[in-house]
Amino acid sequence: MCGIVGINSIEQIKVTDAVKRLKRLEYRGYDSFGYFDGKKLFKKIGQIIIPNIPDKSSIVIAHSRWATHGGVTQNNAHPHQSCDKKITIVHNGIIQNYQELKKDLATKGHSFIGETDSEVAAHYFEEKIKRKNIKEVCVDFIRDIKGEFALLVMIEGDENIYALRRDSPLVLGVAEGQNILASDIYAFSDITTKAIFFENDEFAIISSDKYAFYDKHGKKTDKKIQEFRWEQEESATENYEHFMIKEIMEEPKVARRLLMSLGAEQKENFRKFVNLIRDSRKITFVGAGTSYHASLLGVYYLHKCGIEAQTLIASEFEHFVGVDENTLVIALSQSGETMDVIEALKYAKGKDAKIASIVNVPYSTIQRMSEISLNICAGQEVCVAATKSFVNQVTLMLAIAKDFGFRITLDTIPDRIFEVLKQEEKIKDIAHSIYKHRDIYVLGRGLSYPVAREMALKIKEISYIHAEGMMGGELKHGTIALIEKGTPVIALISNSDYSMLSNAKEVEARGANVIKITNEMEGNIKINTSNDGKFGILATIVGQILTYFMALEKKLPIDKPRNLAKSVTVK
Ligand code: AGP
Repeated sequence: MCGIVGINSIEQIKVTDAVKRLKRLEYRGYDSFGYFDGKKLFKKIGQIIIPNIPDKSSIVIAHSRWATHGGVTQNNAHPHQSCDKKITIVHNGIIQNYQELKKDLATKGHSFIGETDSEVAAHYFEEKIKRKNIKEVCVDFIRDIKGEFALLVMIEGDENIYALRRDSPLVLGVAEGQNILASDIYAFSDITTKAIFFENDEFAIISSDKYAFYDKHGKKTDKKIQEFRWEQEESATENYEHFMIKEIMEEPKVARRLLMSLGAEQKENFRKFVNLIRDSRKITFVGAGTSYHASLLGVYYLHKCGIEAQTLIASEFEHFVGVDENTLVIALSQSGETMDVIEALKYAKGKDAKIASIVNVPYSTIQRMSEISLNICAGQEVCVAATKSFVNQVTLMLAIAKDFGFRITLDTIPDRIFEVLKQEEKIKDIAHSIYKHRDIYVLGRGLSYPVAREMALKIKEISYIHAEGMMGGELKHGTIALIEKGTPVIALISNSDYSMLSNAKEVEARGANVIKITNEMEGNIKINTSNDGKFGILATIVGQILTYFMALEKKLPIDKPRNLAKSVTVK
């Protein structure tokens, strides 16, 4: 879940430019950051601050950390160095056998300043390079390490950056006069559309104007440059205070962009995708967090069309899913790098299942693991909270379900979203009335149940209020005991769902402060659609805006909530 960058440039570049490239990846982790420019090693706890320094260098590696092994301390911040300070590394991933390696290195006289697994890599290279050349050491590292790594290595007196990859994402951006290694294409998508993606157990030797890739045996491999296309960078908050509200306000635009792509550049792929579903005997979705909630909606939509499907949370996938050659596994992932999903897909591939995916980041690992993949065209999503990406994931699921008979007019979705956004002030007032509470409950039934789950997740991760999203009918089987006078309960009542209405009345009778989001019945927020599918998207957006204003009231960080990262690239 860390962000790494490595730049090797023909001309000297400002070190601050390298740190700015790292900042483009900050959503991957922001507990601490650091860089090494061949001369100076800099580390600091906390979010990335662009240093006000004149320093220049032709080679820099940098790292933004999300702590896995070892607390958030100066010593645990990357880059890490060997005992003789001649080897410097940055690492994203987990070296699972690091204790065993550390013990062995300690017997050879190595001492460690931090508690991280990553630091072992610097000492591993230092020890090995005494007797072997650097390529041999890279081959040994890939052989000896258990776990995931995207590792960049600099060696004193050597003008190359050595880059090694297994499971943690790593890509080389080929730009004018410089080669840029990074965790994902956002680091350099403003200056080049040429990228080379690392496969597992590959390493590369990157100079300022050349690169050479090798397989795990040290055999040179030919890699082709991919031209990637990335929607117009949304990389500044423009006139918005936070990326979260900016990205919510982009939802009509990006939903329209997705729908247009399904009739244009993605038309053929969409057709193949639908046919793959039609021809499969078993359909299993897999995702994590918000993407899982989108897949849950997808399952509900397909059930409405008589298509049997299921979905599972990625981290539990291999415990519960009967997967075989007749199964189509469809992964949903905004980043395309979520390790739990990658692990689930590896498991599914091992059982000869077919793999398809719906992603946002092009050429991401999950997309490249898929036989067929659709892009949700949401553009860069910087806020850790998934907002516009969820809307487009669900819009795409509706487009797929429509092909199987789900009754919906897709083209009006952007306008309906825009109408919800215009209720911002009303939603802000509701946020003001409930943001001080410690617990909030969100109730839904049928197509609104996944929405209730998603709304609760937003509330938890961004406004730090405990929230439960649950089935309205389930409340009276226990949870209703928690309802006290004034407890906020958000009830999602689509059309004439009288069962949901009575669930709302049950909690109201016990003193709850019920906030009804409806489209037909009387409610606090009225949504202008009679379509269940659209109601889900639009109610979710109400929840996104509500969350944003509650977090604003509480003066929280919003775009970079504590303990979280945008892309969870560790198990
Ligand atoms: C959603 O707001 C969270 N940031 C998180 O649950 C996220 O959806 C989850 O980690 C999955 O990420 P992905 O879509 O990139 O796979």
